[in-house]
Amino acid sequence: MTRQSGIGRLFHVLRAQQFDRPLLDHLCDLTTLIRKVAKTREGLNFLRSLLSHKRVMLYFTQPSTRTFLSFENACHILGVQTSEIRNPATSSEYKGESSEDAIRTFSSYVDMIVMRTNVEGLADQTARHLDETERPVPIINAGSGRDQHPTQALLDIYTLHRSFEHRGGIDGKTIAMVGDLARGRTVRSLSYLMKNYRDVKLIFIAPPSLAMRDDLKQFLDKRQIDWSEHDNLEDVVPRADAIYMTRLQDEHDVAGESRQLDLTNFTFHYRFLERLGPEAIVMHPMPRRDEIDRRVDGDPRAVYWRQARNGMWTRTSILANIFAVDDAILERL
Ligand code: NCD
Repeated sequence: MTRQSGIGRLFHVLRAQQFDRPLLDHLCDLTTLIRKVAKTREGLNFLRSLLSHKRVMLYFTQPSTRTFLSFENACHILGVQTSEIRNPATSSEYKGESSEDAIRTFSSYVDMIVMRTNVEGLADQTARHLDETERPVPIINAGSGRDQHPTQALLDIYTLHRSFEHRGGIDGKTIAMVGDLARGRTVRSLSYLMKNYRDVKLIFIAPPSLAMRDDLKQFLDKRQIDWSEHDNLEDVVPRADAIYMTRLQDEHDVAGESRQLDLTNFTFHYRFLERLGPEAIVMHPMPRRDEIDRRVDGDPRAVYWRQARNGMWTRTSILANIFAVDDAILERL
């Protein structure tokens, strides 16, 4: 089997809006297949042979463990060699070099740059800048300030897709997003992706000061995606197919203002499990604090650990698509 015609080939991955349904479906199928192939030593050796001629730089100047490690391991699964910058103080940016110049230099050593920064728009800007050079390489946005985290949204889609596979898929589902929606980039990117699914209902549950921002609501209105706001998770639990919890993003506080908030109504309490639908799921991009009672972890409807593991496999399939080895993987079917 090969990639069907009409399914795109990614170059830069900058924002969730760039994905269409055929590509999302392809990436989900590819992810499932890669997981299957990786179950045997022979399969892993095959995967590792595919991109042993490629080098990827992980440019992570904002704290990260799981996104960093899942990208690094995704690279290694396909045989890609990795190098990293995790602290700009160890780079010449410290000497006053612009990040534009620094990244252009790095780009000359590698075949792709995966970037996490706290600067909104830096990944886009870098991509545009590199496009004008003689050797543009793909830029992957692995989290840009409070703005977007498109690869997290892709792994969230994969998790939703797998969870609802026998219930008609993501179409028609009600997804509740809870917590710091104003500054949580994962919920923003995931909401953008909903343009690709039919009859999805989004319910935003956040304290007024952390409500989903207007730009995203306007996007949803324009795409006629049903959304509503609520101020208490408990009331929404019985009608949600998926509940996407997020933590307080207080690293963006100016003076610790959000730490004063009472988050009781935005916490998934243990007793909520009784009211949660038998096939509904609870998600979280992680890391979490106290927004999910630890006792929820033991319930099969808590899928956040699986979701985290899906991150590595989804990122493997993104790399496979960008570097055009997805057809080779599909041919093993
Ligand atoms: C998220 C992020 O960095 O935006 N984490 C992640 O990538 N898994 C969510 C968060 O930090 O709260």
